[in-house]
Amino acid sequence: MTGMLELKSIDAGYGSFQALFDVSLDVRAGEAVGVIGPNGAGKTTLMRVISGLIRPIRGTIAMEGTDVVATPPHRIVSLGIAHVPENRRLFPRLTVADNLKMGAYMPGARAHYVERLEFVFELFPRLKERLQQMAGTMSGGEQQMCAIGRALMSNPKLLLLDEPSAGLAPVVVQQVFELVKRIRASGLTVLIVEQNVQQVLRVVDRAYLLEAGSIRAAGSAAELAASDTIKQAYLGV
Ligand SMILES: Nc1ncnc2c1ncn2[C@@H]1O[C@H](COP(=O)(O)OP(=O)(O)OP(=O)(O)O)[C@@H](O)[C@H]1O
Ligand SMILES: [Mg+2]
Repeated sequence: MTGMLELKSIDAGYGSFQALFDVSLDVRAGEAVGVIGPNGAGKTTLMRVISGLIRPIRGTIAMEGTDVVATPPHRIVSLGIAHVPENRRLFPRLTVADNLKMGAYMPGARAHYVERLEFVFELFPRLKERLQQMAGTMSGGEQQMCAIGRALMSNPKLLLLDEPSAGLAPVVVQQVFELVKRIRASGLTVLIVEQNVQQVLRVVDRAYLLEAGSIRAAGSAAELAASDTIKQAYLGV
């Protein structure tokens, strides 16, 4: 496996508030990597820094060797990074079809529009049935499919998922983790933030524990699942 995404010594925050301290992390091509940690740990901030929504104060980010920090935010999608933000952020009054179209706005993606759409329908047949429905009227799980589908329309190499299971009923949570497995099996590289520690450790290869803006632990999913710190604080055993 070769390095796809590489963060080195990232400090980031909002105004004078620092949310990330010296965060280093890497994701190799074909891997699924998890980021776990309590509320306010900086997980969403980490995803925002990677997708260019906020700029780090210090440190470097490389995507397949390209300097992400020096890349204008609107060009970062073209590097192959697609971000499914926390709370989905669909356009609720647009149809499912139009939401998907919004994911393929860059010239490079437009050329592959039809084949990307086929790929999304293969993963999420439900979306094909509901193309003309307003996204805001879809169920929570369907909206998550739509949000992931929209991100996949840009033909990404790396998919950033920020708490895809949040707010969903347990059965639907299961389905979301099944989707993550399928996305991963399709060859995509995945970086996923989850509160649902037990379940996410079943679908990722490796994970990082982020606490108060710093990486406190890192290792294979099996190592983290077996660690006493994580068992006590996050697995309730
Ligand atoms: N737009 C913002 N302006 C100011 N502070 C912010 C902003 N967004 C987040 N923060 C602060 O940065 C810190 C990290 O927040 P972040 O959203 O990254 O945490 P998180 O790990 O994703 O938490 P959660 O699990 O609740 O989603 C928190 O203290 C939060 O209050
Ligand atoms: Mg968050």
